[in-house]
Amino acid sequence: MIQLFNVYKSFGSKNPALIDVSLTVEKGDFVFITGPSGAGKTTLLKIIFCTEKPSSGHALVDGRNLNRINDRELAFLRRRIGVVFQDFKLLPRRNVFENVALALEIMGFPLPMIRRKVHQTLRYLGLANKEGYYPPQLSGGEQQRVAIARAIINNPLILLADEPTGNLDPDLTMEIMALLKEIHIRGTTVIVATHSQELLKDTRRRIVTLNKGRIV
Ligand SMILES: Nc1ncnc2c1ncn2[C@@H]1O[C@H](COP(=O)(O)OP(=O)(O)O)[C@@H](O)[C@H]1O
Ligand SMILES: [Mg+2]
Repeated sequence: MIQLFNVYKSFGSKNPALIDVSLTVEKGDFVFITGPSGAGKTTLLKIIFCTEKPSSGHALVDGRNLNRINDRELAFLRRRIGVVFQDFKLLPRRNVFENVALALEIMGFPLPMIRRKVHQTLRYLGLANKEGYYPPQLSGGEQQRVAIARAIINNPLILLADEPTGNLDPDLTMEIMALLKEIHIRGTTVIVATHSQELLKDTRRRIVTLNKGRIV
C-alpha cells in the first residue's frame, strides 16, 4: 500500500527532517509513528499525502510513484486518503454537516447522496444531533470526531492521523483510539503519528520510531 525507499527530506535548514527513511505499510495495517517532537513524524505523513515531496528517494502509495505523479492522478489518489492533521482544521464558519459534506461537494456528488452519506457517517460517530452546530460550539472531543468524520466520509483506503489525541483528556483519548481501531477493522489502512508514549503503552500494533529524522 505504502512504500518508502531511502526518503530524505530537507527544508533547507541544516538538519534534514527525514534521513534515509525506508518503510513498507501493507494494506490493512495499523501502524504508529512515534518519536519526540521534531523527529519528522508530520513530515513523513505529509510525504505520504503528497503535500511534501521527498528531496531524494522514492515514495509509492497505492502503486503510484509520488515523484512522477501528475496533478490529475494526485487529486484522484488524495481522494482515497483520509487525513486528520493538526494544521488542517475544521472550518469555523461552517456547521458540522457542511464541514463533513465539503469533500463530497468538491467531488461533485449529487446532493441527496451527500446528505445520505453525511447523515450516516455522523450517526456512526455519535454526532447525529450536532449537524447544525458550528465548531466553536463543540467540545474538543466532538471537534476531533467531526474531523474524523470528514476524513472517512469517502471510505478511504488509507487514514493518516497526526496527533489525533493531542489535546484530549484520557477518556476522550480512549474514545478516539477505539474509533480508529474500528475504522481499521472495517478495512482502512491506518497510520497514527503520536509523540505520546502513554498511547503506545499496551498496544500490540506495529510501532515505527523516528529520532532526528531517522528510523531507530
Ligand atoms: N515546512 C517546513 N519548513 C521548514 N522546516 C520544517 C517544515 N516542516 C518541518 N520542518 C522541520 O522538520 C523537522 C521535523 O518536523 P516534523 O515533521 O513536524 O516533526 P514532528 O511531527 O515529529 O514533531 C523539524 O526540525 C521541523 O522544524
Ligand atoms: Mg508533528
